[in-house]
Amino acid sequence: MEAALEQKYNFDVVRWFAIMAVVYLVVGAAVGVYIASELAWPVLNFDIPYITFGRLRPLHTNAVIFAFGGCTLMASAYYSVQRTCATRLWSDKLAWFTFWGWNLVIVGAVITLPLGLTESKEYAELEWPLDILIAVVWLAYMFNFLMTIANRKTSHIYVSNWFFLGMMVMITYLHVVNSLAIPVGLFKSYSIFSGVQDAMIQWWWGHNAVGFFLTAGFLGIMYYFVPKQANRPVYSYRLSVIHFWALMFGYVWLGAHHLQYTALPDWTGSLGAAVSLAMIIPSWGGAVNGMMTLSGAWDKLRTDYVLRFLIISLAFYAMSTFEGPVMSIKTVNALSHYTDWTIGHVHSGALGWVAGVSFGALYHMVSRTFHTELWSTKLVNAHFWTMTIGTVIYIVAMWVSGIMQGLMWRAYDEYGTLAYTFAESVEAMHPYYAMRAVGGAIFLLGGILMLFNILMTVRKAAVEGTLAKARTAVATA
Ligand code: HEM
Ligand code: HEM
Repeated sequence: MEAALEQKYNFDVVRWFAIMAVVYLVVGAAVGVYIASELAWPVLNFDIPYITFGRLRPLHTNAVIFAFGGCTLMASAYYSVQRTCATRLWSDKLAWFTFWGWNLVIVGAVITLPLGLTESKEYAELEWPLDILIAVVWLAYMFNFLMTIANRKTSHIYVSNWFFLGMMVMITYLHVVNSLAIPVGLFKSYSIFSGVQDAMIQWWWGHNAVGFFLTAGFLGIMYYFVPKQANRPVYSYRLSVIHFWALMFGYVWLGAHHLQYTALPDWTGSLGAAVSLAMIIPSWGGAVNGMMTLSGAWDKLRTDYVLRFLIISLAFYAMSTFEGPVMSIKTVNALSHYTDWTIGHVHSGALGWVAGVSFGALYHMVSRTFHTELWSTKLVNAHFWTMTIGTVIYIVAMWVSGIMQGLMWRAYDEYGTLAYTFAESVEAMHPYYAMRAVGGAIFLLGGILMLFNILMTVRKAAVEGTLAKARTAVATA
């Protein structure tokens, strides 16, 4: 059985992407804990430019989104497309090209960001040579994926593949347009857009990095791994298709909700808010669809720790896709924008949803592709609780500090002057920043447990010889 799977599919590239994803999670979260600590205790900047908050912050976002998130998406898309199309990846060479190319981009980010080399666009900081490399690697990923679907042995294209494809097409388009720039040297370029257009394009990309990279791609993961791990068909296939098309048509219109009360025409913000509110419906439809897949089999949650990650991630997905639309309403945004409330929203989506669904998928893939049980299910359980507790501490701290910040900034006394100085609001934030660093450290501890458990699973597979046996059987077949 295992030998047949090894022969039929390319699991090697999946294994490597999955392991690297966990390594990058630990690195990215460790940088997150460090910058969170810098905000609480600024002495940690040590006056060393390379490790100041301003330079490490983009390193954190790039490491968690593109290194951890990207490797997870590549592992899971390559794994699930082969399984759902009952065929091998179209090209092994192209798959390895994406592995090495993507890792090269990450190495480039690790070197250039601490040196302060950046295009200064959020989530699109990397300079133009790396932007070109990203585009080439991404296209190779998409082409290989598409050709695998074209070669499929099944009659229809399963919905997870649609979500992955939607992400691939839209990210190509968004990345290329937003990165259009005129180079003036190897490490410096200027965007071809300026002023209001620049802001519009940047947040059209910015929100869709969230909508397509952090949402559509991870929904692809959800639609494959939740039914697989639960061993049940998805609750409503029809709902999943509606979810897909509604997200594809809706997300691209939202960007302007990041730019309320700016120089943008007022109607663009209103349009962004209106479409954002409408997005609650498909997002919740998707979350319910995922959860209801367990309908009649909820007891599985008592024993299956991997499934717990997948289901709790859907609860966080529902929560952040309710909170986001509320924050896009102008009057709410007037309070939340520039405050830590946004950071709380980001991390309920990022830690609870993105990381949670990734952990479930990664544990599933590691066990299946190494043809063995995970080394310790107790550690998976410990990881589940550290992740959940760490995430809740993090987001609660940011909600309280963010709303307090917003209220302090707008408080007036009876003479009509500001009731608090900015420095007073910073001082009031301190306990919450410390709390966030603690929550982050607990989340990071879970990541370290996961890395350890996965490395021990790889070792176990080597000791038991499961992978070697499968491969030898292939070689002699
Ligand atoms: C140990 C876990 C983590 C900690 C302690 C942490 C901490 C931080 C801190 C301190 C910031 C800067 C906030 C500010 O500028 O005020 C930040 C920003 C950010 N982090 Fe994390 N983070 C963690 C994990 C993650 C993960 C796993 C993801 C994504 C999958 C993520 C995505 C982001 C994003 C997108 C931002 C930028 C937010 C914005 O600009 O509004 N983080 N993080
Ligand atoms: C229907 C779904 C969602 C809507 C309508 C939405 C809306 C919003 C709004 C209004 C903001 C604040 C903009 C500002 O004041 O600057 C925001 C920020 C953000 N959201 Fe969401 N959100 C949604 C779901 C999510 C999810 C699932 C994630 C997953 C990680 C996420 C990640 C982020 C990030 C990273 C930012 C910070 C961007 C920045 O300023 O750097 N959002 N979102």
